[in-house]
Amino acid sequence: MSTVNDHATSHPVPYSTGDSKITETTIAEMRELAARYPVGRSALLPMLHLVQSVEGRVTPEGIEACADVLGLTGAEVSAVATFYTMYKRRPVGEYHVGVCTNTLCAVMGGDLIFERLKRHLDVGNDETTEDGKITLEHIECNAACDYAPVMTVNWEFFDDMTPESATQLVDDLREGTEVKSPRGATICSWREAERVLAGFPDGRADEGPTGGKASLAGLRLARERNWTAPNGNGGAPAPLDPVPGPRPEDQPGRESQAVHTDDSRKED
Ligand code: FES
Repeated sequence: MSTVNDHATSHPVPYSTGDSKITETTIAEMRELAARYPVGRSALLPMLHLVQSVEGRVTPEGIEACADVLGLTGAEVSAVATFYTMYKRRPVGEYHVGVCTNTLCAVMGGDLIFERLKRHLDVGNDETTEDGKITLEHIECNAACDYAPVMTVNWEFFDDMTPESATQLVDDLREGTEVKSPRGATICSWREAERVLAGFPDGRADEGPTGGKASLAGLRLARERNWTAPNGNGGAPAPLDPVPGPRPEDQPGRESQAVHTDDSRKED
């Protein structure tokens, strides 16, 4: 099967390392993704995840392939790929390990965990261990603050972490021990996870619990105490607050264009 690299012989791709794994199958899958959207270019984000699943990063060939399929320029695809932090321009290890160092996680121990892992793995931020197993990255708030400090492996959550449980986690990953997310699936490789993010499910989306204790605590309390959400004005949307400043009808020449937002306004 020919690869994008084969085409590169006659049309060299700038910055190519010459070892692209993108094949006709990849291109066909890109077309399949583009066909899922009313406007093909909407598929660019999943297509870039697909590139990462095949290449282990976003390569120049991957950018060119996305651009060809979507009728974009390489610069346009590049602009997207360099904007979002989930797209990697350098090779990612077998597992991507994130440590949340945003405010709440940081004060709950995230900073400590990140420092411990850097020393333990002998890498800096966004670097990969020598054995190619772990890429370590400090990440921003993952909306899991109720489990702070949190870590992720290939974007699956690991809750209430400590420096000790964090080092145990990366040791298990490096040794090939089966690791399960407490609120998600059994951990696969980063490339496999990227293929799922591209929109090719692996059938394991429902593995593991969908919600954790802390997230569901409010719901449990409400049920125990028979609380219900206030229904306001009977379920209808609340009237909009009046816009501050002069009312349209008070402005000279606007009488005929008066806009009323609620009944009390009509009676003014
Ligand atoms: S601060 Fe870490 S998940 Fe929100």
